[in-house]
Amino acid sequence: MRPVEIKPDVHWVGAVDWNCRNFHGYSRSPWGTTYNAFLVKDEKTVLFDTVKHDFLEHMLCNIAQLTELDKIDYIVANHMEPDHAGCLGELIKLAKPEKVFCSPMGKKAMDSYFHDTQDWPVEVVASGDSVSIGKRTVQFIETRMLHWPDNMFSYIPEDKLAITSDAFGQNWATSERFADEVDRSFLRRRLAEYYANIVLPYSPVVLKTLDALAGMNLDVDMLSPDHGLIYRGDDVAWVLDQYREFAEQKPKNRAVVFYDTMWHSTEKMALAVADGLIDQGVSVKVMSVKANYHSDVMTEVFDAGAVAVGSPTHNNGILPELAETLTYIKGLRPQNKIGGVFGSFGWSGECVNILTQWLEDMKFEIPEKGIKWKNAPTHETFQQCFDLGKAMGQALKAKL
Ligand code: FEO
Repeated sequence: MRPVEIKPDVHWVGAVDWNCRNFHGYSRSPWGTTYNAFLVKDEKTVLFDTVKHDFLEHMLCNIAQLTELDKIDYIVANHMEPDHAGCLGELIKLAKPEKVFCSPMGKKAMDSYFHDTQDWPVEVVASGDSVSIGKRTVQFIETRMLHWPDNMFSYIPEDKLAITSDAFGQNWATSERFADEVDRSFLRRRLAEYYANIVLPYSPVVLKTLDALAGMNLDVDMLSPDHGLIYRGDDVAWVLDQYREFAEQKPKNRAVVFYDTMWHSTEKMALAVADGLIDQGVSVKVMSVKANYHSDVMTEVFDAGAVAVGSPTHNNGILPELAETLTYIKGLRPQNKIGGVFGSFGWSGECVNILTQWLEDMKFEIPEKGIKWKNAPTHETFQQCFDLGKAMGQALKAKL
């Protein structure tokens, strides 16, 4: 990619990671991602964020088409996670900037990531601080725990531009740079997937941040996250609305049934539970955890009002891949779900109690006792599972 001028004298100089398939070691990213960085040329030349270290040369090539490295006066490091600050050390060595701005928590993260920062020209900035760079001013807004303690936004009122670090990002590698140039439903899906797997536990912070931004009456006509497409014009309000909807986690008329199975008994039970939900007019997705990575299951859980989980009993417990998926989901703290459990067993049959405990720990509302069945299911089993799905569907409808 070459640099892209997104506003007069404001240039995207990031990198497109077409082949990223696992984001940060825990979330599948089948559509790749981008690491967005921006160069603003004013009386001061300012670089906002860097890129993942593997893409240092891409960013240097982009910058070289606009200026010499030693002409960079300031670097703003909105976030210290290595996909954005991975090249910070090299950039400071090469560009010798006059100042590097970061938040108070950013300074702590910087020192613990790089260790040799004592000579770096760091200036710590907090919410409300600003710096003049010529015709423009950069205002800083700390957004602690959205999604790390150090994250902050940079806002340039003269350009009506907000650079928002990870918030509002999507994992999607594209040749386009703007949200209005791509398919909307696919974009929303990528936005939801990113939210579900990265931002969801911090939903209360998202709501507070959205309220605070509204209270500040910022005039924004372009919002640039550090991953994926940039929002401009009406898309700014669109993405803020999407985030409010995501953070509120109101139940939707959708369900996911996910399970693991040994000899297909639990799988057959899963299909019968799904039929019960469908009978109540709920849109259902059925997912084996062997066929679906945990982050894909999580995206569906996030988008669902009801969640049914199944596993056979295995060594007095549940199957390990299902336990792994539940561990991942629990960490992301989904809210406002109707839950249900089921599973087959050979002799001891602990699966249903264990799964119930998982869902109770996540504060799911469980309207019906779980269904367990010894070895091969029968018509009676399927009827019980169908009734479980039906009860879940009715409980969900009562919440909509
Ligand atoms: Fe995209 Fe928190 O890093």
